[in-house]
Amino acid sequence: MYKLVIKGGKTLNGSVKIAGSKNAALPILFASILADGPLILNNTPHLSDVSTTLRLLMDMGSEFILESDNSLFVDSSKLTKLTAEYSLVKTMRASILSLGPMLAKYGEAKISLPGGCAIGMRPVNLHLKALEDLGAKIEVKNGYIHASAEKLIGTDVHFEQITVTATENILMAATLAQGTTTIHNAAQEPEIVDLANCLIKMGAKISGAGTSVIIIEGVSNLSGATYTVCPDRIEAGTYLIAAAITGGKITLKNIHHQSMRAIIRKLIETGAEIKCDKTSITLDMKGRKPKAVNVRTSAYPNFPTDMQAQFCALNSIADGQATITETIFENRFMHIPELARMGAELSLEGNTVISKGVKSLTGANLMATDLRASASLVLAGLAAQGTTTIERVYHLDRGYETIEEKLKLLGADIQRIQD
Ligand code: EPZ
Repeated sequence: MYKLVIKGGKTLNGSVKIAGSKNAALPILFASILADGPLILNNTPHLSDVSTTLRLLMDMGSEFILESDNSLFVDSSKLTKLTAEYSLVKTMRASILSLGPMLAKYGEAKISLPGGCAIGMRPVNLHLKALEDLGAKIEVKNGYIHASAEKLIGTDVHFEQITVTATENILMAATLAQGTTTIHNAAQEPEIVDLANCLIKMGAKISGAGTSVIIIEGVSNLSGATYTVCPDRIEAGTYLIAAAITGGKITLKNIHHQSMRAIIRKLIETGAEIKCDKTSITLDMKGRKPKAVNVRTSAYPNFPTDMQAQFCALNSIADGQATITETIFENRFMHIPELARMGAELSLEGNTVISKGVKSLTGANLMATDLRASASLVLAGLAAQGTTTIERVYHLDRGYETIEEKLKLLGADIQRIQD
């Protein structure tokens, strides 16, 4: 196992290239199951969740090649096994995204139930109910979802709660269903738009992606395609906070600011100066301490839950008091006790964190628990006085491409060492 060792107090300056989006790349990789030919993907991020997805697809009979030009060739057109095994699914809940495509293409699927994770129970009931609406027969036994469908039949699907991957599962399943499917109360995340754009390039007939009503006209088959994955807005937001928390100036390359409006608005409230152009964003903190800001997470286009932990770190050293309310997941506060060990004054009341900014944090030995909580510990370590070590760095590697290399380029004193 590895840990990160950070000597804090450095002001970060410079520019960094944002990688492809984890939460777009994963559904797009599973969409390869729907195609009669290979997908050729550009800008796929080098993340452990992507490797896990490729291992899962390979276990089911997919072939893939990482080309020298960094494009990824994935051919899942002839699966030999329609089971997503527990041994792989337990490491990545997003494996549930294989269910819709397998049902649509092969009429059957056996998927290990993804367990909960550090941030909550994370049930998949909405996925299963919506697939039953499309005519699937679903039984859950011995920890597996057994699903079958002669042919999926298009219909109106109403989600009682906004759900990103359930919207993606139905979007993919409906592309090969008979007739038209309308998804009501659909999630509107940019990653869903990216998935829809890739499916359209494969021959799918989709309208409304990015709004709360998505209409899919089923077609008989989908072909392979070449597609470039959109940039990762959460990686981008995390690096903007690295600049804000250390008083520095950072330019992000290869990022669309339109997908980050809620994050940018909040950072401007902290006193950051932000300039955007077509493919880059520059945040300049001019050496100032940030002002504490109130945050409330909710579905896109509002403030994303995946940036909540990072803002807790920023508020910890900001001027003033503020509240951060988490409305999506029931236990996404694993970073709070760890930040408190660095001297942060954070108290939890229900699903709201009350922060009281301190002059500075002090380095400590910390334990990462989940992906975004780990990111918040890195940010706090960058700002803290003294040395911070963060164990179980594998959580970070799920969603951040070579984070210590990118931070080093920005002037951070950070090393990855063997435990
Ligand atoms: C996606 O998770 C993202 N993951 C998450 O990013 C993100 O935090 C989340 O959406 C919310 O934006 C991927 O895209 C791979 P949900 P997902 O279904 O789809 C409840 C990261 O850090 N729910 O939108 O699993 C659920 O418990 C990850 O990159 C049900 O009750 O989240 C939650 O409270 C973390 N039943 C709420 O809905 C269901 O069947 C929203 O969850 C499905 C969801």
